[in-house]
Amino acid sequence: MDPASDATFTAAETAGMRAALAAAARGVRGANPVVGAALLGPTGQLLHVGHHRGAGTPHAEVDVLQQARAARTPLEGSTLVVTLEPCHHTGRTGPCTAAVEAAGVPRVVYALADPTAEARGGGAALRSHGVHVRAGLLADEARELNERWLRAREQARPFVSLKIAQSLDGRVAAADGTSQWITGLPARAEGHALRTRVDAILVGGGTLRGDDPALTARDAEGAPCARQPLRAVMSTRPVPPEARIRVGTAHDFTAADTAARSPVPGTDAGSAAPTWGAATETSAQAPDAETSMPGPGAGSPSLAPRPDAVTATPAASAPATSGPAEGLDGRFVHLSTHDPREALTRLRDLGAAHVLVEGGPTVAAAFLAADLVDELWLHQAPLLLGDGAASVGALGIGTLAAASSWRGDPVGVQDGPVAAVGEDLRWHLRPAPR
Ligand SMILES: NC(=O)c1ccc[n+]([C@@H]2O[C@H](COP(=O)([O-])OP(=O)(O)OC[C@H]3O[C@@H](n4cnc5c(N)ncnc54)[C@H](OP(=O)(O)O)[C@@H]3O)[C@@H](O)[C@H]2O)c1
Repeated sequence: MDPASDATFTAAETAGMRAALAAAARGVRGANPVVGAALLGPTGQLLHVGHHRGAGTPHAEVDVLQQARAARTPLEGSTLVVTLEPCHHTGRTGPCTAAVEAAGVPRVVYALADPTAEARGGGAALRSHGVHVRAGLLADEARELNERWLRAREQARPFVSLKIAQSLDGRVAAADGTSQWITGLPARAEGHALRTRVDAILVGGGTLRGDDPALTARDAEGAPCARQPLRAVMSTRPVPPEARIRVGTAHDFTAADTAARSPVPGTDAGSAAPTWGAATETSAQAPDAETSMPGPGAGSPSLAPRPDAVTATPAASAPATSGPAEGLDGRFVHLSTHDPREALTRLRDLGAAHVLVEGGPTVAAAFLAADLVDELWLHQAPLLLGDGAASVGALGIGTLAAASSWRGDPVGVQDGPVAAVGEDLRWHLRPAPR
């Protein structure tokens, strides 16, 4: 228990914390928690409100202090109110404790102690430097805001997002296996923006065999984004050497892209499913490529890309240029397992802190059944397919009372948890608290 967690707080501090919590929700879920901060003046007046915009960007404390500096706001007698204990370590950004001290803020109030081994201890460090620190204000709300991120950290695994593109009747492919494209161009552009924010994208062997996806992130013009995630496939069978997932953007998809419903130019579309036979698969023993691609990406206004890079092996030959080119995209990894926890452990060990599961139904069900999905992005198109693969495979749910329950999540979406995206509907959901 934090020694200052039984502190008392003023009404102004409580109002400041509510403003900070609201600001935190403007961030995005993923590798980092969503965090907000507010600066109060000597009489408790609200001076500035800031938030963290995603991994690699300034933390909320730094954001609000930068605003104060830009506005030449005097900080004598001020109070910094923040939803998470200021960090005390150097990660992609410097320690917030140092920024607070350097700014000369005399008082800090935070909601929740940082649970992570590497960043905790900021409150004590600030106290030891003469800053007056109190903790525990609206701690339950702050914990609830990041409940799934905290759980992922406790379980020492990456944060997991699941993305599904389905028809009105919950199908992700037609009876003949065709699935490109179920959703329209704006929804797919959102999907690409999401790809730029994650460290790794994962699909199952069925999607690999059925769709031969490249799993690359493209901008609105269809050009590969500079930042590409690690591409992963969960399959106990070999991955053919010619599979697009191995080479990412090194293929030319232009001809295939002319095929179907409003395609995003240059996306990983294929007009026909590949016909790999057993002979081809058994010859697939090429070593997995291991490169990474730092740099900014691009995306839609409501789904901002993440500006930092996966902290794994740097690319040996990965220039930050645009245009299809060997070595431009991220790495590929073959996860020869059906166990989602094992897959996540391997991806974590490769440096992934945020994993996007893009299906298909069998892999989606495996992650859902193991309660390993922290947020769900679901695009629903105004199509009916009748037959065809259901978006999620068997979950072992036998009765309505045992249904997997989800809630609208306003974090990271400017237009709310349920919004029209072109002709489609987009749901942003998180597991209902238990
Ligand atoms: N619309 C969408 O959003 C979307 C997205 C993705 C896919 N799809 C569609 O989904 C269809 C493919 O469905 P799918 O269910 O076969 O795809 P899948 O979930 O991608 O792959 C299933 C395969 O992955 C392996 N696997 C990994 N973990 C497993 C586990 N826990 N249990 C069992 N197998 C596991 C197995 O392959 P091995 O035998 O090789 O181990 C299994 O056959 C395609 O038609 C595709 O177009 C649609």
